[in-house]
Amino acid sequence: MTVLTEIDHVAIAVHDLEAAIAYYHDTFGCEVAHREIVEREGVEEALLKVADSYIQLLTPTRDDSPVAKALATRGEGLHHIGYRVGDCAAALARVKAEGHHVIDEEPRPGSRGTTVAFLHPKAAFGTLIELVQE
Ligand code: CO
Repeated sequence: MTVLTEIDHVAIAVHDLEAAIAYYHDTFGCEVAHREIVEREGVEEALLKVADSYIQLLTPTRDDSPVAKALATRGEGLHHIGYRVGDCAAALARVKAEGHHVIDEEPRPGSRGTTVAFLHPKAAFGTLIELVQE
């Protein structure tokens, strides 16, 4: 049985958050459901709701942010996928028990009151995975 209950969000790194919001609004009619600056991560995000999931547009707020580094090395585009789980700590423990490399050894606070943990992309076939507990 899978511990993943939903795609929580697809995160896309962009240089110009307002331009990306306008693109999704004008092209697909998407509205911003939530906006937040996460100082610890050095990012500003805009969440666009699609059914029970979100498109998460991300832009850096400072040069040493991980998203700034991703933009500098890989350019704009898909940054990570957030998979929703019922219990982030249990899901993370299972990943570690399987011997897979993780970025967050313990769950931590995410945006909009969630609890999250990032897994290492090199252990996950090239995709940066975020476990998200609402
Ligand atoms: Co995320």
